[in-house]
Amino acid sequence: MKKDTAFLQAKKQRREPITMLTCYDYPTAALEERAGIDVIFVGDSVGTNVLGYSSPTEVTLEDIVHHLRAARRGVHDAFLLVDMPFGAYTSPDQALATARTLRRYGADGVKLEGGLGQAPIVRSLVDEGFDVCGHIGFTPQTGGPRATLQGRSFESARELWQSALALEAAGVHLLVLELVPEAVSKLITERLSIPTIGIGAGRYCDGQVQVVNDILGITPFRVRHAKLYASLGDLTAQAIEQYRADVEHGRFPEPAHVRDMRADEITKLEAWIQRDGARASGEAGRTQGDQ
Ligand code: KIV
Repeated sequence: MKKDTAFLQAKKQRREPITMLTCYDYPTAALEERAGIDVIFVGDSVGTNVLGYSSPTEVTLEDIVHHLRAARRGVHDAFLLVDMPFGAYTSPDQALATARTLRRYGADGVKLEGGLGQAPIVRSLVDEGFDVCGHIGFTPQTGGPRATLQGRSFESARELWQSALALEAAGVHLLVLELVPEAVSKLITERLSIPTIGIGAGRYCDGQVQVVNDILGITPFRVRHAKLYASLGDLTAQAIEQYRADVEHGRFPEPAHVRDMRADEITKLEAWIQRDGARASGEAGRTQGDQ
């Protein structure tokens, strides 16, 4: 069954946690789909996790489209959410143009960062029929290189609360809360009718999102709010090192990896090389040179 925002909303009503995970390529999309993830998310964290950029602000619309198209091929039932990159939604018109591009390449919904001030942009997207996810708390596109907990004081928590309500009123279908104290995300989640999705925002959000590289142990450092479900970085490094050593020491390929031909065919080839091979290659060279 294809999952849409009504499905996600119904999960909130039933108090069933929503699962969301970043994804940047086809094989990961297929694996996340197989695992039954509700929202497969092509985040602009593709920049730092896959493209080697130092900041998500370097991610272009072309980058996002490239990875969206790959993920799209692996997603069937999940809701495919995509980040609008930094600088691609600075006005309602620009946001609409960006969202139309992302929809053309297969996005089911678009995500944008920012609070109260983004309400007019959200409204114009929703009016045009887009499913929109907001993102408040720590916002990587504008928050700088150090991911820090937001909403720790009364004033900043109140700002988050006001942003959450304004974005809901503007029509967002989902709201990501990143690096927010659990007590604050709980209050916001209880107040909003739309689902909240937390990352480093505690246990009481309607769903959780994680960066896939963080939970698989591909990220080369530990992220405090992420649980490590595998150590693929170490496993991959070990495997590559073993491959290099095997090739260098003649242990690879083994007989099992070798393809061969019938003995009589190779005997014919060897006899022909002895008899005519040298002449034939000389002739081929001359023929090419003559042309
Ligand atoms: O791009 C991303 O990975 C995100 C998550 C942190 C929610 O926006």
